[in-house]
Amino acid sequence: MLKKISVEQLKPGMYVANITSKGISLHEHEREGRIKDQKTITALCKRGVRELYIDTTQGDDSPDAIPLEDSEKQLEAQIKGIVTQQKPKDKHTSFEQEFEKASKMHNEALDMVSHAMEAAKTGNIVDLDNIENMAENFMDSVERNQNALACLSRIRDKDSYLMEHSVNVAVLMSILGKHLQLERTYLHQCVTGALLHDIGKVLIPDTILHKPGKLTEDEFAIMKRHAPYSRKILEKNKGFPQVSINVAGQHHERLDGRGYPDGLKEDEISQEARMASVVDIYDAITADRVYHKGMPPSTALKRMLEWSGPHLDTKYVHAFIKAIGVYPVGSLVELDNGLAGIVVEENPGSIKPIIKVIYNIKKSIYVKVTTLDLSHKNCNERITKSLNPEDFGIKVQDFIL
Ligand SMILES: [Fe+2]
Repeated sequence: MLKKISVEQLKPGMYVANITSKGISLHEHEREGRIKDQKTITALCKRGVRELYIDTTQGDDSPDAIPLEDSEKQLEAQIKGIVTQQKPKDKHTSFEQEFEKASKMHNEALDMVSHAMEAAKTGNIVDLDNIENMAENFMDSVERNQNALACLSRIRDKDSYLMEHSVNVAVLMSILGKHLQLERTYLHQCVTGALLHDIGKVLIPDTILHKPGKLTEDEFAIMKRHAPYSRKILEKNKGFPQVSINVAGQHHERLDGRGYPDGLKEDEISQEARMASVVDIYDAITADRVYHKGMPPSTALKRMLEWSGPHLDTKYVHAFIKAIGVYPVGSLVELDNGLAGIVVEENPGSIKPIIKVIYNIKKSIYVKVTTLDLSHKNCNERITKSLNPEDFGIKVQDFIL
């Protein structure tokens, strides 16, 4: 059985589970295995590890360890508590009205990021004006109705990860910034940086960038260079504000100093980079890649809550959870009656969104589409979990309008 344990409770003879492969990881590049001696535990403490998972079928148990199922429930309760602190807001524009504009904008942004990357690769100038205009368009769309772009960022193509990830990080940054009511010029610089935060990846060899599997330590060392490369590319292109450069150069720094490229700690990491880390990680772990499946949003938020503190800034993780909700628009959820539906509208401050019921999970068949407001007093159904649409061959884009 998998159990969660604090590092102080860890003893030789226990077996640390490689939970990455099970879609759960507290720490990057975590290794599985039996704890042989106290030295290993001391090393884990030094690395800033506070909690980890043990597998009691392969090693000793501890009376203080919490079964995975229980620790997941605790996290879910915490997330629900955070979400329900959110106050309902007025919607200025309907989802349908905004969606068409947002779709066009999203496609243009993909093209624009692709051109910027091509320019960076060939040593040419990146067009700052276009990128800045796009950042502004994103902020305006999110202001009108954030669900349109948020939903588009959930529809993705495994083969265009780099472009889609860049665009999505900018969308999510706009949503987080709106929630935090950031000053417009500052947020604009953050979103501009977000659009190009990974531009340095164009200088990473394709064999590493597109490797279908886990990178070796040497390969990972090369991959890490993308952050300083991103910074240098933006610095070389005159006109990029320092805030945008910080987003690009510091988005892999972690509060405990275990990030890269400079191992910056706490206040040494800019506010914009702390926000960028949160949105970058969320998009990365929810994305389906060629070699692994993305986590459903609700699972991703649980992991991010665990990472907040030593790695991610708790303030921004909480703000992000409030800003996008547990079941974002465009995500697929299972109901307790065995049916599945797509979230089409959030009820802010509630964990009960409006969904379009489309699928019977037990029978593996589509059902007549019906809309259900789970917050309605006469509605008895509740969400049991988030699902990955790909597991059921469901194309979300076919159902959202
Ligand atoms: Fe990155």
